[in-house]
Amino acid sequence: MAKKRILSGMRPTGKLHLGHYVGALENWIELQNNYDSYHLVADYHVLTTDLDTSNVYSNTIEMVIDWLAAGLDPEKSPFFRQSQIKEHTELFLIFSMLITQARLERNPTVKDQVRDLNIQNVIYGHLGYPVLQSADILLYRGDAVPVGEDQVPHIEITREIARKFNNQYGNVFPEPEPLLTKFARLPGLDGSAKMSKSLNNTILLSDDPETVKNKLRKAVTDPKKIRKNDPGRPEVCLVYTYHKKFNPEGEAEIAAGCRAGTLGCVDCKMMCTEKINSFLEPIIEKRKVLENDIKKVEEILHEGETAAKKIAVNTMEDVRSKMQLG
Ligand code: TRP
Repeated sequence: MAKKRILSGMRPTGKLHLGHYVGALENWIELQNNYDSYHLVADYHVLTTDLDTSNVYSNTIEMVIDWLAAGLDPEKSPFFRQSQIKEHTELFLIFSMLITQARLERNPTVKDQVRDLNIQNVIYGHLGYPVLQSADILLYRGDAVPVGEDQVPHIEITREIARKFNNQYGNVFPEPEPLLTKFARLPGLDGSAKMSKSLNNTILLSDDPETVKNKLRKAVTDPKKIRKNDPGRPEVCLVYTYHKKFNPEGEAEIAAGCRAGTLGCVDCKMMCTEKINSFLEPIIEKRKVLENDIKKVEEILHEGETAAKKIAVNTMEDVRSKMQLG
């Protein structure tokens, strides 16, 4: 039986942080062995919140370096830029006729973004970005989409659009499923629900050991644990969440020590720093090699774009034929 297909993507915001890894990249890396997988750089999506495109290319390169350094294999999972495959915009236009404005206005992810970024007037393309995302996924007839929790509403919109198209014109698209990791979200260093570049509360995959140490030193912990021997509440502490992810074998002891008041935040953070640094060490090593060979990174993108283009053209032929657009 043919393998199921995965399509996922990220906006090129530059160097990736642990939240990207835990919420998405780790999942992609694991899934690439069992699925036919494709990963896109959502460079057009950047425009929804930032019209300045001068950093998009360098941010793309930085992000692709992190993908490679973390273990995504372009032989198994071609990478490509959305802007290089014109079929995305064509399908986006058709899909924009298959969904109502009211449906898009109900989307909680766009609402959260508008609030977090303090956007006064939402542009049309921002409201419609899940429609472009639906085109990204369905152009490759993706069966599954590994995403973070915040993107689940967009997969629901994608399914609705697929259904609507298939009912109206005939069967072209699958209804894709979201694939979530257990750790769909990693809190930020300031205690916010998630790490995010705009909130400036991240640990980057490229942060050196000293930087990680300093960032964690300043991280927010349980506000009720003021002195070392005060009993703490691991369940409200973001450092404990990091332990759960990067120190699963030590997690129980950390929680017990924190609750009993025998483990202070300084020591707990030191242990966490060590674990995160040993996780990052091989990524940083690989990154150094790639940073010195940008040509290779560009080549990987171009090869991915050739592979993706073939599929995109084939889907659009099918779409046009079903719509009797010649
Ligand atoms: N909207 C996603 C984000 O902001 C990025 C994205 C664009 C995407 N196209 C996609 C994710 C297709 C999954 C599938 O993070």
